[in-house]
Amino acid sequence: MRRFTALALIPALLLAFSGCAAPASTATPTSRPQPTAMSAPQPIVSGPTAGQLADLGKAVYNASCARCHGSQGEGASAPALVGARARLDRYGDALGLLEYFSRTMPRGSPGSLSEEKNLQILAWILLQNNFVYSSTVLEESDLSETPLAK
Ligand code: HEC
Repeated sequence: MRRFTALALIPALLLAFSGCAAPASTATPTSRPQPTAMSAPQPIVSGPTAGQLADLGKAVYNASCARCHGSQGEGASAPALVGARARLDRYGDALGLLEYFSRTMPRGSPGSLSEEKNLQILAWILLQNNFVYSSTVLEESDLSETPLAK
């Protein structure tokens, strides 16, 4: 909270130095969102894109999944996760898929990867299957609305 207090001072200081006569709206308590971005610390509204996550996810996939599922997810000793042979639709949506593999995979040490890494792998799988655009912002709230079919 101390950080936010310091941040809240910035607009006041800027106003003071700019010599501008803008009304000091920063002190007005209001439930309406303020149009000026500097009036209060803003919540982060958008997360990383699928493309950004997938870039990281590919390395995690290579290290933890590729030896059974194939280097491109094409399937090997384990079923395909990418392409026409992948049968991911049975998980319903992206959240269902994430929940499935984050608790059962990697086989041998199920559930051993962090939530963050599992999300990165998920992004890579979704992108490889063209279920999302690389610019899609992947937040957990959207995953249940991302179908696993083209
Ligand atoms: C040691 C081999 C092995 C590793 C490593 C492994 N898997 Fe699997 N995986 C399997 C096998 C075998 C199956 C099929 C049986 C099952 O669903 O449990 C499977 C099934 C799956 C399925 C379900 C596929 C379907 O068609 O229903 C998903 C999704 C999956 N794995 C994701 C992953 C991910 C992501 C990783 C890396 C974090 C991973 N797996 C690592 C062996 C492995």
